[in-house]
Amino acid sequence: MKKIFTTALILTVGLFIASCGGGSEKSTDTGEAPVSMVEDEPEAMDPMENKGVGPISSVTLGAEVDAAMAAKGQEVFEANCTACHKTDKKFIGPNPTGVLDRRSPEWVMNMIMNPENMIIKDPIAKDLLAEYNNAPMANQNIAEEDARAILEYFRTLK
Ligand code: HEC
Repeated sequence: MKKIFTTALILTVGLFIASCGGGSEKSTDTGEAPVSMVEDEPEAMDPMENKGVGPISSVTLGAEVDAAMAAKGQEVFEANCTACHKTDKKFIGPNPTGVLDRRSPEWVMNMIMNPENMIIKDPIAKDLLAEYNNAPMANQNIAEEDARAILEYFRTLK
């Protein structure tokens, strides 16, 4: 009985020493971890400066709304988006009325074209996902031209 106890004690001490060795390596790792976290999640920025994640890096809005483009955008929106978005109230997704007062045009187009990555990588889209009960926005495979037309339509919603 005594022998078993001694063996167990030796094993425990041995494990303790081994885990101490591992422990000091670990603390070096933790020293590096925050660097990669900073890369993944940039510091909070002005939401209007955030262009989102996706194919769109630059959008220029005309001084006036392009009525023909907006009409086309309304058609695409009604065919693909109204199952979840209403322009007079919050629904399964947010009401897009006034969205351009809170988001950059690039962010909106990236959200339309690349929602599955936006909700993983973009800090605003991540927060929205949580706010909307983790119901992810579906990718509707909207072509860039149609996404641009929807953006023009959103400019007409007041
Ligand atoms: C299956 C439901 C669903 C469909 C279809 C859908 N969305 Fe969404 N949308 C959401 C949800 C839910 C969110 C909030 C983010 C999240 O939970 O993923 C969202 C977020 C957004 C946002 C961000 C709004 C804000 O206030 O920042 C925009 C813009 C948007 N959707 C546009 C569209 C457009 C345009 C279409 C059609 C091409 C579309 N969505 C189709 C559910 C949907």
